[in-house]
Formats: sequence, C-alpha cells, structure tokens
Amino acid sequence: MFYEPGRTDHGLPFDPFKSCVVPRPIGWISTLDRNGVANLAPYSQFQNLTFDPPYVMFAANQNTRGTRKDTAHNAEQSGEFVWNMATYELREAVNRSAQEVMPEIDEFELAGVTKAPSRLVKPPRVAESPVQFECVYYATLRLPGSMVGTVDVVIGRVVAVHIADHLITAEGRIDVLKARPIARLGYYDYTSVESVFEMRIPGNNRAVAGGLEGNAKEIAAALE
Ligand SMILES: Cc1cc2nc3c(=O)[nH]c(=O)nc-3n(C[C@H](O)[C@H](O)[C@H](O)COP(=O)(O)O)c2cc1C
Repeated sequence: MFYEPGRTDHGLPFDPFKSCVVPRPIGWISTLDRNGVANLAPYSQFQNLTFDPPYVMFAANQNTRGTRKDTAHNAEQSGEFVWNMATYELREAVNRSAQEVMPEIDEFELAGVTKAPSRLVKPPRVAESPVQFECVYYATLRLPGSMVGTVDVVIGRVVAVHIADHLITAEGRIDVLKARPIARLGYYDYTSVESVFEMRIPGNNRAVAGGLEGNAKEIAAALE
C-alpha cells in the first residue's frame, strides 16, 4: 500500500503511522508549575539525542483545547524537568498520569506514586521508578500542524542520573531485563523489554565502538 499523509487516504480503519515507528521509549516526565504543583505525564515521542553531554527530548502535542500541554509549559517556564523510566510494574500509574487534568491537580497523587527529591533540580523524581534523569531545559522547536498535531519538541540537558543499585549487575551493566521498561506501539498497544541480543559492527574501530557505547573517554583515547 502507499499513501501521502494529509493528501491521500490510507484506506485502513486505523491510521497506521504510529504503528510504524515502534517501539517508542516512554519519557515519563515530571515538572513543577509556578505554584509548585507537581505534574507527571508520559511522552512516547521521547528520545536521547546525544551522550557527551547527554541530551534528551520529548515532543508535546497541543492538548484537546488547542493549547500547550502542561509539561512543555512547565519545563520552559521553570527551566527544569525530570525523566523517569516507565516500567512494566509501573504501567498502571503511567497510564493514570496521562489523564488530561487541570494544572492545579498534583499528578503524582493522581498516579499514586511517591515523590523523591531531586539533587540538582526542583521537580521531584518518581521514587518507584528505577532510573531517573534530572534535566535542565535547553530549547523548544515548535513544529506547525493541526490543532492537536502542532507539537513542541522540548530538549533538555541531562545534568544528573540516578540508577537503582539493584539494577546494576556484577559486570557493571544495567540489567534491562530486570528493569523491564515499557514502550509504546501503535493503537493502544505496548511492549516491554523481555529479550536482548547483541551485535557488534564488523571491524575493530575503537572510536566507532565508543560512539555506540556512548563512551566519550574511549572515543577521545582512540582518536589521540
Ligand atoms: C504511553 C503514553 C504516551 C504518550 N505520549 C505522548 C506524546 O509523545 N506526546 C503527547 O503530546 N502526548 C502523549 N501522551 C498523552 C499525554 O500523556 C497526555 O496528554 C497528558 O495529559 C499530558 O499531560 P500534561 O498536560 O500534564 O503535560 C501519551 C500518553 C500515554 C498514555
């Protein structure tokens, strides 16, 4: 099949677009509004952007009232946000935090999760989540579209990383199968990490390998 988004109809009962870019990791983002009310919401249009220094992004569509979502607004206005790993164990809380509610509502309470203080930024972390990044707002890229389709791509620099000790293996890696992060597929479908396989790029280029590992020191050493 072939279609041109916005020009020709795909002819399917469900729009296939979101089912093509899968699985999408979930940015479970906490922020504070100007009155100090805590906000928490999942964003599957989420990614890391680079590692030296680390940056992440989330893309917030406008809400159904045609205004900007609270997370984007708060991140810009306060200059800070926190990313929390969404896991299979926390899936119902993640889902509850996606409800569109008024900014006066504390969404940690709505989701039924506990606040843990951050070290370098003011928004709290989700205590039950095993990995969190404290982020400082960097920039917003606004992409024009329809009322809900218009999106704010919010970029932040990761200034602090928290990883639960029980997830770190004897070899010093994160045990991703133990963490079991969830990710969005299309429609109302999700997946979680339940298997892992390893591949190495052919050849023996240390700098290239350092890039894949996100190891800035290894890259610098290789290029010396
Ligand atoms: C798993 C999941 C992923 C979501 N991803 C996005 C997303 O990438 N962008 C977006 O605008 N909304 C997304 N939503 C919807 C928002 O979470 C929802 O609109 C929420 O109320 C926004 O809250 P806020 O206004 O407090 O930021 C997602 C919802 C769920 C359940």
